[in-house]
Amino acid sequence: MNATAPIACDVKDMALAESGKRRIEWAAQSMPVLATIRKQFIKTQPLAGMRVAACLHVTTETANLMITLRDGGASIALCASNPLSTQDDVAAALVREYGIATFAIKGESNDVYYSHLNSALDSAPQITMDDGADVVTLLHTKRKDLLPKVIGGTEETTTGVIRLRAMAKEGILGYPIVAVNDALTKHLFDNRYGTGQSTLDGIIRATNVLLAGLNVVVAGYGWCGRGVAMRARGMGANVIVTEIDPTKAIEAIMDGFRVMTMHEAAPIGDVFVTVTGNKNVIARDHFEKLKSGAILSNSGHFNCEIDLETLGSMASSRREARPFVEEFAIRDGRKVYVLGEGRLINLAAAEGHPASVMDMSFANQALSAEFMVKNHATLEKKVYSVPEELDKQVAKMKLESMGVQIDRLTPEQEEYLASWSEGT
Ligand SMILES: NC(=O)c1ccc[n+]([C@@H]2O[C@H](COP(=O)([O-])OP(=O)(O)OC[C@H]3O[C@@H](n4cnc5c(N)ncnc54)[C@H](O)[C@@H]3O)[C@@H](O)[C@H]2O)c1
Repeated sequence: MNATAPIACDVKDMALAESGKRRIEWAAQSMPVLATIRKQFIKTQPLAGMRVAACLHVTTETANLMITLRDGGASIALCASNPLSTQDDVAAALVREYGIATFAIKGESNDVYYSHLNSALDSAPQITMDDGADVVTLLHTKRKDLLPKVIGGTEETTTGVIRLRAMAKEGILGYPIVAVNDALTKHLFDNRYGTGQSTLDGIIRATNVLLAGLNVVVAGYGWCGRGVAMRARGMGANVIVTEIDPTKAIEAIMDGFRVMTMHEAAPIGDVFVTVTGNKNVIARDHFEKLKSGAILSNSGHFNCEIDLETLGSMASSRREARPFVEEFAIRDGRKVYVLGEGRLINLAAAEGHPASVMDMSFANQALSAEFMVKNHATLEKKVYSVPEELDKQVAKMKLESMGVQIDRLTPEQEEYLASWSEGT
């Protein structure tokens, strides 16, 4: 569609729209579940008249979600959920080819990032769709005037859900939010296989290092860390895991990885990946022990997992070694390399998660938005999990799209599983 009315936007270059459209169509081919939901949405218009402010990584997959919401009747204002994660061709295509208001430029400053969040909020949304809870936070601080209009929201990622639960606990969350990340069809696949593959893709695209034989240190053995560790091993790396949770540490050991503290890992690691959702996981004490040539990267949501301010203070000079690779020359003569400004490396230097995995995450987003519109009146100002039946529905649709059949319980088996008296 070529929009006739001017669409509010701030994107890098409209001339990129055509290539963005082709890449959006390419991703669509691997998103059959979302395509099915889109067809239903066109018929049922569950979001008719709804204004949605979406703050997501502006990628080809997100574009397909935005098109689905638009076709379900919503009017959308989209901004980026990270200053480095926007694909500029996609942003241009969303505006020119699909008529969706978009405010996102790859490499935008922090100030521009927040001005884009504000532009999305200027649409006075009834629904928010966040990835990291920056829009929700802004709504509860500087844009409080808009809060009464919001009926509900959704949140994509672990870090956002943690922030929202903290707000709900303090009793300040202003409206109900569905934690899309909690759906099994989201975190089991997106966080694990999506982050696993795309993080290594980002590291490799940025550096072109051969991972085989290197010591790759993965900080955090949660859903994302498991994926990164598994895929790094697949590339021939010797994987070391650091953790703070004893159970996760045992799991990593039994999965066959070496587990140690970051202090022990710092002098032997070649490539470091933080995926903890925590701050200063690699800090001064660790920087002091790093080998010269060590590569530091992060795939957790915020750029605070590596203490870059301190690393900067330890350096006599800094320069770009290659795109997305910054060299810190430490005063004692060592060189340390930081990828993608310590921001999500899979989105900074690569393209984020593959479409086939975002198909399930964004199916959950679309169905959760529909759920919110239908049920907001009876929901409390709390964080809700994706209803189990929606999660299962997404899994069934994905299996169907794969042409895979699975067994069904026989009536006898159902009875057996429901009974406590039968033990033999
Ligand atoms: N790169 C991406 O595209 C992408 C995708 C999904 C999630 N995320 C983000 O990645 C981060 C991790 O998400 P997740 O779903 O794996 O969370 P998770 O809660 O499953 O795992 C985090 C793990 O980090 C561990 N941890 C916390 N502090 C630590 C420390 N100081 N040292 C070592 N380990 C520590 C925790 O014990 C936990 O096991 C979050 O910020 C999330 O928002 C990024």
